[in-house]
Amino acid sequence: MKRATGLMIAAMLAASAFASGCAQGRQLPMTTLAPKSDLADWIYRLFIEVTLWDALVFAIVIVAFLLAIFVFSTRVGEAAAPSSAASDLKLEVAWTLGPALILLMISIPTIRTIFRSQPNLPPTGSLEIEVVAHQWWWEFRYGDQDHIVTANELHIPAGVPIRLSLKSTDVIHSFWVPQLGGKRDVVPGQVNELTFEATVPGMYPGQCAEFCGLSHANMRFRVFVDTPEQFAEWEKAESAAPIAAASISDPAAAAGAQIFSNSPCTTCHQIDGVSKGYIGPDLTHFGSRSTMAGAIEANSPANVAQWIINPGHVKPGAQMPPLGLSGKQLDDLVAYLESLK
Ligand code: CUA
Repeated sequence: MKRATGLMIAAMLAASAFASGCAQGRQLPMTTLAPKSDLADWIYRLFIEVTLWDALVFAIVIVAFLLAIFVFSTRVGEAAAPSSAASDLKLEVAWTLGPALILLMISIPTIRTIFRSQPNLPPTGSLEIEVVAHQWWWEFRYGDQDHIVTANELHIPAGVPIRLSLKSTDVIHSFWVPQLGGKRDVVPGQVNELTFEATVPGMYPGQCAEFCGLSHANMRFRVFVDTPEQFAEWEKAESAAPIAAASISDPAAAAGAQIFSNSPCTTCHQIDGVSKGYIGPDLTHFGSRSTMAGAIEANSPANVAQWIINPGHVKPGAQMPPLGLSGKQLDDLVAYLESLK
């Protein structure tokens, strides 16, 4: 009896802690309880439905438990009531059919949601984006000609069907934006798809959800659901060629452009019209992003400088080697990267 009460109190405390944690709403909620797309909404409704059935089972068990203790138990010194029946057919049918019925009521909406959540958009009329997972960052490529290539920050318009083609260059990752839908594995040698339509503009944090090595926890990203106007503006800015090195007016950035062009940076990073590297993130519009390094840090000059000095210190296991730059050279390179709007 003591143990059962203890367990019940522990369960109640856990439930209340869970509820209050969700209600507070942190700055970047990684929550599935505030869906902002059709896909996330289906999953949320399934969760509520299953939870209600669970609550019913819980209530029945608790009532039976209390009845057994306080009503149908024998007291000290009292003789136990003899049972004449060897079995009770009605009772056996009830406790077989009851759970079967509850399982059925849970499995029907579950199977329906599984089918609904499969890629179901016609290829026309939806915005197609290629998502490439790398250890440990995300690449997003738009359009047939890859006219926009960016990293760790995905922009999509609200109210437009989105079709993501998920690919991996190395190990298995998992694409997950809790407020926009369920997890989907990203598997090398295979293209998985995820389709959804975001409903509410805003910024939603995402995270790789499959252990993929040293910096798995640092493999974050952000999804910006824009209004159609904001998205058109962003698309226009990202499609534009970066300012040519010769036309950069800021002397520090101009010097930084020279340092970049003559450095090993060019073998790994692409900047349209400057370099064609493809191992690391495309930096053509690096300055327009709000985050860097797998979206674990704000994109600020100080953070970019720290990153260049020792990438592995910021993101353990990062493939980029320290460049050995310091002083004015480092400041100039940072000024150039930040000027790439
Ligand atoms: Cu990629 Cu975990």
